[in-house]
Amino acid sequence: MTLNISVIGTGYLGATHAACMAELGFDVIGVDVDPEKIDALSRGELPFHEPGLPELIRKHVDSGRLRFTTDMAEVGAWGDVHFIAVGTPQQQGGTGADLTFVDAATTSLARAITKDGALIVGKSTVPVGTAARLYDLVQAEKNPDLTVSLAWNPEFLREGFAVEDTLRPDRLVVGTRKPEDEATLREVYAEALERETPWISTDFETAELVKVAANAFLATKISFINAFSEVTETVGGDITTLADAIGFDTRIGRKFLNAGVGFGGGCLPKDIRALQTRVSELGLDHTMRFLDEMDQINLRRRERVVSLAEQILGDLNGKKVAVLGITFKPLSDDVRDSPGLDVAARLFNSGADVAVYDPEGNANAAKRFPRLGYADSLTSAATDADLVVLTTEWNEFKQLTPQALEGLVARRQFIDARNVLSAREWEQAGWTFAQLGRHFSQPQSSAASA
Ligand code: UGA
Repeated sequence: MTLNISVIGTGYLGATHAACMAELGFDVIGVDVDPEKIDALSRGELPFHEPGLPELIRKHVDSGRLRFTTDMAEVGAWGDVHFIAVGTPQQQGGTGADLTFVDAATTSLARAITKDGALIVGKSTVPVGTAARLYDLVQAEKNPDLTVSLAWNPEFLREGFAVEDTLRPDRLVVGTRKPEDEATLREVYAEALERETPWISTDFETAELVKVAANAFLATKISFINAFSEVTETVGGDITTLADAIGFDTRIGRKFLNAGVGFGGGCLPKDIRALQTRVSELGLDHTMRFLDEMDQINLRRRERVVSLAEQILGDLNGKKVAVLGITFKPLSDDVRDSPGLDVAARLFNSGADVAVYDPEGNANAAKRFPRLGYADSLTSAATDADLVVLTTEWNEFKQLTPQALEGLVARRQFIDARNVLSAREWEQAGWTFAQLGRHFSQPQSSAASA
């Protein structure tokens, strides 16, 4: 008999996990407290952009293996394995993780379970110690006549590649207290195990820490190369060549060494802050202090883009600036803690007339920052611009040539804040062209109109 699987929370993580579990052959129910989201998902519509996911959801809504509900009682009576995939955002006015949703979902689920032997599996990113606390919470809230257990199974999917990462993970980490819980999870992930996906069976604390350690390491890698950007901007040198050269050392590796305007999104920034906060609570005030430095290096990259704009334009007041890319990275419509949106807002607050264009992110950005100008194409954003700033490396922008903007912009002035274009090509075409990690001095002729 196959396991009935429920997934509590239908955001990026939960919706993807639910659809992928159905793809693996399980019967799945996705649960959310938001009835609008549930209605949309039941029609096979996704409230956010994730390549391949709407198709997978529609496929399994149609096949009957995937359905969505707001009814926890239904799920508690039906499910054998319940994944908790709700958000753990940064606390309002604080740096720790807000566990309200995890606590509420776990409590209501534990109370709703009527099936003996059910297993609750935490997937959300949480501060170390949360799983142990939730284990006790479940024992206190569940029906005393039933056995209900809890395991921790962090998720490492990347937005933009969520389906691929979930169906073909590079490793599976499970924190359990009982061998039978690990056995249940081996059944859930049987297909990945057949492919010899590394299986790391451990305790709650290690499982929780693996997730935050991975994100802290990735954030550190990005800020490490961006710190060298500050050096090469001062003394000269080529940051991309530097990254390539150290990346050939397989102990270092080239991935996540792309210098630019830095990291954003719903995970890396809040996870490094939550980790520092948690270790301070544990009395280890100094242990993760370097992460604060990583955060500061990252935020200084955004200031650097604004100061380059000022260097090129002088007073920003009334200057037309086109900002290309407003999502925190390509292949996503997510603008949470987005470097591009932050840069656009800073330019706007300094008096610039900002026109933003993003292939997927305009609508979400407009909800957060309605006062920016939103263009429906690259050419419309760049028309009459005194400066064009590339902040997210969508393919459409990576393929941009000086010729495509010729006759469109008011001045040939460009900041490539992701280091994806060829400086030589743009400079040869007569553009004032700045990148991050590259020494920049204003050419004499930069005031020339296009
Ligand atoms: C990140 C992790 O990569 C996932 O493994 C993890 O599961 C996820 O967080 C999570 O905790 O849920 P994601 O937020 O989708 O995934 O984004 P990344 O691909 O990690 O990119 C984060 C940011 O770093 C982006 O703003 C990106 O532009 C920036 N970045 C990335 C750089 O500035 N340079 C690089 O070399 C790489």
